[in-house]
Amino acid sequence: MRSTVIARKIIRYAVVESTNDLARVLAEAGEPEGIVVLAEEQRAGRGRMGRRWVVPRGTSIQGSILLRPNLPLAQAGRITQLAGLAVAEALREELGLGAALKWPNDVMLNGKKVAGILTETTLRGEALDYVILGIGLNVNYSMRDYPELAPFATTLADQVGHLLDRAPLERALFRHLEAYYARLGSGEDFLDEYRRALQMLGTRVRAAMPGGILEGIARDVDAEGALLLEHENTIVRLLAGDVTLLKEDSL
Ligand code: BTN
Repeated sequence: MRSTVIARKIIRYAVVESTNDLARVLAEAGEPEGIVVLAEEQRAGRGRMGRRWVVPRGTSIQGSILLRPNLPLAQAGRITQLAGLAVAEALREELGLGAALKWPNDVMLNGKKVAGILTETTLRGEALDYVILGIGLNVNYSMRDYPELAPFATTLADQVGHLLDRAPLERALFRHLEAYYARLGSGEDFLDEYRRALQMLGTRVRAAMPGGILEGIARDVDAEGALLLEHENTIVRLLAGDVTLLKEDSL
């Protein structure tokens, strides 16, 4: 049987700048894959597209996992897909919550973001060397205290109506990450699961990308993690960006 990779070793910190940075230091020092860095507080937590990721101290799950997948660089996006699926599975198993994913990797409950994923890759020459998989899951605080975020974001406590023990959630998350990562390693496909979890295919979206804004119908995702957007009768392949679901009937 395959022994456990994910969270074979966990390092816990009270305060760090960013767990992704600490995991990178470990990677550069030659640490084997699977190690997890967790923090109660991040002073310089990073989100996607240069944003900050700040949550109140001691409330949430904020961690980074070092992975050394044997993958072509073009498929690094699959790590992001598996992380979103693993978070959603952990929420289903532990709390009975049905999460959806929003491309590329936001985990949503009732239309609001409860977790974000930041996948940072490092190359050796042209090939993928290692991946730092950062996950932030909002747990024990309330968006009532953050009215500016409340229309878009949520926490598990807000969703279930009480505070939660984070330890079983953390274990469920690592267990599902382990299972999906093993499937990735054995060449198994989970693209159809990811498609089903997305729940936005066939709907009209607005995509904000580094190069501008594009509206169209989210038609599909591909194995490399790109979103295939139908815009004026052509399919545009988006590799990065933020999508907003537009409130129109599905097409
Ligand atoms: C996003 O949705 O924009 C991604 C957010 C990722 C946040 C996590 S928290 C742990 C890890 N360390 C960071 O600095 N960022 C990620």
